[in-house]
Amino acid sequence: MKLTNQKAKELKKDFPLLQKKERGKELVYIDNAATTQKPKAVIDAVCRYYLAENANIHRGLYKISEIATLHWEKAHASVASFIHADPEEIIFTRNATEGINLVSYCLPALFRMRKEIVVTALEHHANLVPWQECAKRHGLILKVIAMKPDFTLDYKDAQKKITEQTALVAMNHISNALGTKNDVQYLISLAKKNGAFTLVDAAQSAPHTPINVRKMGCDFLAFSSHKMLGPTGLGVLYGRKELLAQMPPFMTGGDMIRTVSYQDATWNDLPMKFEAGTPHIAGAIGFAEAIKYLQEVGMETIEAWEGELLSYALKEFQKIKGVTVYSTGPEKSAGILSFNIKGVHAHDVASILGAEGICIRGGHHCAMPLMGALGIAGTCRASFYLYTTYEDVDRLVAAVKKVKSIFGIEKR
Ligand code: ALA
Repeated sequence: MKLTNQKAKELKKDFPLLQKKERGKELVYIDNAATTQKPKAVIDAVCRYYLAENANIHRGLYKISEIATLHWEKAHASVASFIHADPEEIIFTRNATEGINLVSYCLPALFRMRKEIVVTALEHHANLVPWQECAKRHGLILKVIAMKPDFTLDYKDAQKKITEQTALVAMNHISNALGTKNDVQYLISLAKKNGAFTLVDAAQSAPHTPINVRKMGCDFLAFSSHKMLGPTGLGVLYGRKELLAQMPPFMTGGDMIRTVSYQDATWNDLPMKFEAGTPHIAGAIGFAEAIKYLQEVGMETIEAWEGELLSYALKEFQKIKGVTVYSTGPEKSAGILSFNIKGVHAHDVASILGAEGICIRGGHHCAMPLMGALGIAGTCRASFYLYTTYEDVDRLVAAVKKVKSIFGIEKR
């Protein structure tokens, strides 16, 4: 299937919230890097669980508990097939952040004598702060692969920074702030050549591009349900089973044990070893439905459509004077457009657009060091998805022109 503007308009009808009007105009929701809207099928699946199947998993010897357990396990299988992993390699967490934190606490047991962690200049705080703290706990050095002026990573710098001293390379796949697609395949190959572990923050890629962890060759990959049409409060950590088996548990308690005495405990099989306590069952059920929806549209299709939208938006923005765009271009970028209007704070732009019914994010996008490297406090960020249309982009462009006129900077 190929997405067209007409098809995107039809998909939009599946999303109840996108039918909402603001001041009589259609809502333009282009803050999908923050969270996405949910199709009715996902909302219905969550409701169905609470209305007809609500019971705890792995505990009840009665029908509704067995159904809930089956759905929970099926959700692991859906996610596994979505990224080409095995179901026992899929750990459900609260979000991508928790998955990354899990690795930052449990993997250092396998670091041996290696003393360095490498991240990139494009990281979200979620894939930076856990490594800063991990480095402090274990007396390690944190190294950062630099960014080039075209907003891509400096791969020559990566060659210098990834060495035999590197314990782990943690990298984002797609920058949430600028949309840059990083060459994770290359960084993983450098890491492997040097015997280092790898973690990919796929929070902004799993929703927008096909993922195959076997081909990618990473050891860990984390993402969130809510950024890909699913419920909030559910994340995924993929981990290679050989490593998960060797790592100590993160949280301890119910469901993650095999046997417990007053003095000791042994651990359950994967993935339960890393899924202590009652999990977000409704979230997993909704997420499995979201994955079904995405697979029906097709991940290549979604990626191609967002590329078309970005090309169009970049062309339109080029025509507006006094706007700086922070993008490496449609070839190496996902459907994220980060920009500033000269002399206007990103928060002012975002609130004026908000009043027009156009939802974007303004600010540092949880990437303060990256904003520092760019010499700015923040940007305005429009982020597209499968239901974004050319008309949405046109409304954004018109609103940006309106902001310029409100601030009296039409001519600049
Ligand atoms: N990480 C999300 C964003 O980029 C919240 O907006």
